Amino acid sequence: MGNLVVVGAQWGDEGKGKITDYLTDRCDVVVRTSGGNNAGHTVIANGKTYKLHVIPSGVIQNKPSVIGSGMVLDPVWFVEEMNTLKEQGVKFDNLMIDKRAHIIMPYHKMLDELSEKALGKKDIGTTKRGIGPCYTDKIKRSGIRVCDLINESLFKEKLESNLKAVNKEISEIYGEKPLDFDEIYDEYIKCANIIKPFVKDCSVVIYDYIKQNKKILFEGAQGTLLDIDFGTYPYVTSSHPTSAGVCPGCGIGPAYIDDCLGIAKAYTTRVGKGPFPTELFDKDGDFLREKGFEYGTTTGRPRRCGWLDTVILKYAVRVNSLSSIAFTKLDTLTGLEKIKVCIGYKLDGEVIYDFPPELDVLEKCEPVYEILDGWTEDITNAKSLDELPENAKKYVKRIEELIECKIGIVSIGPKREQTIILDEYFK
Ligand code: GDP
Ligand code: IMO
Ligand code: MG
Repeated sequence: MGNLVVVGAQWGDEGKGKITDYLTDRCDVVVRTSGGNNAGHTVIANGKTYKLHVIPSGVIQNKPSVIGSGMVLDPVWFVEEMNTLKEQGVKFDNLMIDKRAHIIMPYHKMLDELSEKALGKKDIGTTKRGIGPCYTDKIKRSGIRVCDLINESLFKEKLESNLKAVNKEISEIYGEKPLDFDEIYDEYIKCANIIKPFVKDCSVVIYDYIKQNKKILFEGAQGTLLDIDFGTYPYVTSSHPTSAGVCPGCGIGPAYIDDCLGIAKAYTTRVGKGPFPTELFDKDGDFLREKGFEYGTTTGRPRRCGWLDTVILKYAVRVNSLSSIAFTKLDTLTGLEKIKVCIGYKLDGEVIYDFPPELDVLEKCEPVYEILDGWTEDITNAKSLDELPENAKKYVKRIEELIECKIGIVSIGPKREQTIILDEYFK
């Protein structure tokens, strides 16, 4: 395996955590490069269920793991997540946090809540973890970085100045009570002392790995359609979950990336608001939600469910330069008599095959379906493609044809061992 980017090909929750964990023993370091604790990655291994939000899945196997420069870090959350994982036996000898990552402050969380409330019915449906406001401060050039947090006097100075501005916004625009400096300062300095030993210039560390010909696994978060530029804007997150986000997200150039693996669920889900052409509101949608246990790892919200959309997957292949797909949750489809696959969108009497950038156009698109036969046999113990029922095999092969990208991995259950490798590259 070369230096591999794992990227969500849909709207997140495709099983990136599971696949990253599966591939962890084939690499030397696991790096996350975007988002923060808006992510929720579930890994089931060693008979335990691990829930990771801001910490890379590599820690489960005690692999060197990096919270990269493109991420946003809530230090209070981080400490809690680390402690929970420690209680599950996870070691933290090998974790690194980049100095350049931005810090999520209490006012970011508050502004996330307040701005969502102010939007009313037009809300984005964010995780309310302060992600958008934190990235806004980064772009405004007023953000507080990890290297500022661990420098007490600088942190004090930045917090004073930011809080002055933000408290004005909180009280004058939203009519809420201003936040208290001392409370935030004390809590964050406490966390800073815990975080300090992990803090490094990770761009240097990763480059050292590259020079030694070691292998890097980039664990994606969110998904292609949540990308700030290539997602269903404005119903997106505020970072770049697409593969190109990896470079500014950890401080290496694109020539050091060998391959990009898209993670795609065998159907489609979405949490939060925004258009979703193949969304189901019928018993098939309920079937997918209940059978696939489609409830958010982060917020517990029921996920919206729909048929697989190959217009989206082809788009993901293009914008991420995917060399391969890991096709997950195939087992969820077991028991459906017929399975629909969207192959194009009907728009004003014509059929289009490219995912449109305009939200109003996307909202008018009606999916054109191809209908495939389902299967009833339990597939969760299959060890190879040949052990799958004929119709399940046909489904995988047909999707591969439609999206013009190789399916290299098929996942048939949440556990590490419920993974079928089709491509030697991942063996
Ligand atoms: P991520 O955000 O992309 O890492 O995905 P999540 O962890 O949020 O959601 C995927 C869910 O599906 C998790 O609960 C996984 O344990 C589970 N999962 C992953 N792969 C499979 C699979 O092939 N079959 C089933 N049934 N569950 C899976
Ligand atoms: P993983 O890594 C699914 C969605 C939110 C909302 C939008 C903006 O587990 O796949 P934000 O809080 O980021 O400002 O919310 O993005 N969202 C996700 N949906 N999986 C995720 O991460 C997500 N991270 C953000 O639901 O619609
Ligand atoms: Mg998730």
